[in-house]
Amino acid sequence: MRRRRPPRSRPDLSSGTSSGTELSAQPDLSTRVGTLTLPNPVMTAAGTAGHGAELGRYVDLATLGAVVVKSLSARPWPGNPSPRLCPVPGGMLNSVGLQGPGVGAWVRDELPALAAAGARVVVSIWGSTVGEFAEAATSLGALLGGRPAERTVVAVEANVSCPNLEDRSRMFAHSTTATAEAVAAAREAGLPVWAKLSPNTADLVEVAGAALDAGAEALTLVNTLLGLAIDAARRRPVLGGVGGGLSGPALHAVALRAVFDCRRAFPRAGIVGVGGISDGAGALRMVLAGADAVQVGTATLADPRAPAIVLAGLRVELARLEVAGIGDLVGAAQAAP
Ligand SMILES: Cc1cc2nc3c(=O)[nH]c(=O)nc-3n(C[C@H](O)[C@H](O)[C@H](O)COP(=O)(O)O)c2cc1C
Repeated sequence: MRRRRPPRSRPDLSSGTSSGTELSAQPDLSTRVGTLTLPNPVMTAAGTAGHGAELGRYVDLATLGAVVVKSLSARPWPGNPSPRLCPVPGGMLNSVGLQGPGVGAWVRDELPALAAAGARVVVSIWGSTVGEFAEAATSLGALLGGRPAERTVVAVEANVSCPNLEDRSRMFAHSTTATAEAVAAAREAGLPVWAKLSPNTADLVEVAGAALDAGAEALTLVNTLLGLAIDAARRRPVLGGVGGGLSGPALHAVALRAVFDCRRAFPRAGIVGVGGISDGAGALRMVLAGADAVQVGTATLADPRAPAIVLAGLRVELARLEVAGIGDLVGAAQAAP
């Protein structure tokens, strides 16, 4: 049956790692996202931590819950013209445009280093048609089969927050049908599928339901908000891709709302919260809203140690609250009047 949350294991108070604080018993940070158990709930966010093990110079990748890599299509994709990034009040805009080496080159060139680092990897995939989603997923599944690094990849995140050429370039995630089709296609990889949804729709909960009905084990909430930066002196848009995606602190409240609403609608779904998290308090808010796990994006561009900082901060928050583990807090804010 869909939307069933596997039972949580009893908190293991002996399993903590050092937080740098004087704690008598370490809270259990392990969490379940769909059928997957992660040692802790803090991950990188797709597109903000390189394609492979680049972040390993700053963070021990094995200590993160998972590393989510930049979205990959079946074939190499050049992305958008520069400039691609622009700081704005409360965050930044990007129009990177999903530049990537393609699934095949990524498995050959990037996956071995991630495996050597001991990372658990979530592979984000995208396509501009349902067929391209299926192609990316099928080729990922085929390329991983039989490789020693196979077990490194623990899930696929279907980035459905991208234009659908078969629907006048409307985002997949703005349509229940297109989302369901893309998620079904992503299942061709033979791995658990998470659906990365867009906050740019009033139908977020309906789209989330369609993703879960199509077999997604978890919802990743949210991708960037559509935005625009204008260069007044030159009287033109700043970014080469013209429009961009807003991320960072300005997105945090939007992401919290998305997580809150989806947790309320789908009490048993896996939910990963992402948007404007830069410290343990932000991660805690996301968990209280209903997230089983969180991803750190823009903060990593400012400080590559950000995911580790968030993890250490969350550990301190849990100890301060004197809870046995994350499971005691997921969705706790739902109970408020
Ligand atoms: C430079 C940049 C590139 C991104 N690339 C991707 C991507 O390839 N795939 C994806 O699903 N999301 C991508 N995102 C969205 C992030 O994964 C995340 O959902 C969003 O930035 C919100 O989180 P944050 O506020 O912590 O950055 C990108 C974001 C940024 C800033």
